Amino acid sequence: MTAYFNGRFMDKDEVRISPDDRGFLFSDSLYEVIRYYPGLLFRPEAHIRRLNHGADHLKFACRDFSHLVPVARDLIRQNHLFDQDALVYIQVTRGPAPRNHAFPDPEPEPTVYMCVSSFDPAGKDRQRKTGINAITVPDIRWVRCDMKTTGLTANVLASQQAAEKKAGEAIFVRDGVLMEGTHSNFMAVLDNTVITAPLSNYILGGITRETVLDLCRDLDIRVFQEPVYENRIHLASELLITGTTTEIIPIVTLNTKPVGKGTPGPVAKAIQAAFSSRIQQLQKQHPWFSSMKKGFI
Ligand SMILES: Cc1ncc(COP(=O)(O)O)c(C=O)c1O
Repeated sequence: MTAYFNGRFMDKDEVRISPDDRGFLFSDSLYEVIRYYPGLLFRPEAHIRRLNHGADHLKFACRDFSHLVPVARDLIRQNHLFDQDALVYIQVTRGPAPRNHAFPDPEPEPTVYMCVSSFDPAGKDRQRKTGINAITVPDIRWVRCDMKTTGLTANVLASQQAAEKKAGEAIFVRDGVLMEGTHSNFMAVLDNTVITAPLSNYILGGITRETVLDLCRDLDIRVFQEPVYENRIHLASELLITGTTTEIIPIVTLNTKPVGKGTPGPVAKAIQAAFSSRIQQLQKQHPWFSSMKKGFI
């Protein structure tokens, strides 16, 4: 596979990251995962905006990574993935420097790494139809969850807890509020209204969350960006998670208790259908799509 490393395209196996890299030593590092549908890189600018937000708050030497959007497309092309489902992975770190907690002086060049992989949507497609089991776990993360850093220890541990309980996701609960999943945002349906935690430092501003809220407006589904309280969760007729690879997946049991009827509900299904239509519509509009159909790319 061809990857991109510090300004150069090279074989992924030839990428050499210093053991002094602050991403490795301190998780002083940010990442993004962008979904590629055949012919369509989905909302790369939104992902880069979020990356820039993190870089700004972490005071990285580089705080604008918009030049990586064409690189992402180049990687798809160079790896012959343009007619497939794929994922683009981006990681940027503060760079290599002798180990010392405070920022290095002088600032090193940030490390920039990108790779692509083909993505088989079959597993997620199944989960979208059947729904998943989920569990709740205490939110032991730090309080800057709005930055997509690679410091994911709490997410890894919670995800493992879910896996051991045969659940597809763990939902973090902070002060009695269901915040988000380990790799997804969380929404509840109460009285035909979608309720989801407001944007704050306690959750990641998901790109899919944003798209779903926009689709709800099109669908005339009422949305409240408000805390979803644990002690009211039994009143929810539906629960769902959203994310880049997840898209929209209904939760059919929470902590082994059925949610609503214990099957994917009408709101989740309507949002799923609207999301698929939006992707298809965007694919058709994208110049790559018609070239791909004609076999040009
Ligand atoms: C903690 C967390 N919340 C939410 C999301 C969903 O964000 P997006 O829709 O941008 O993938 C992710 C995605 O990885 C995540 O890690």
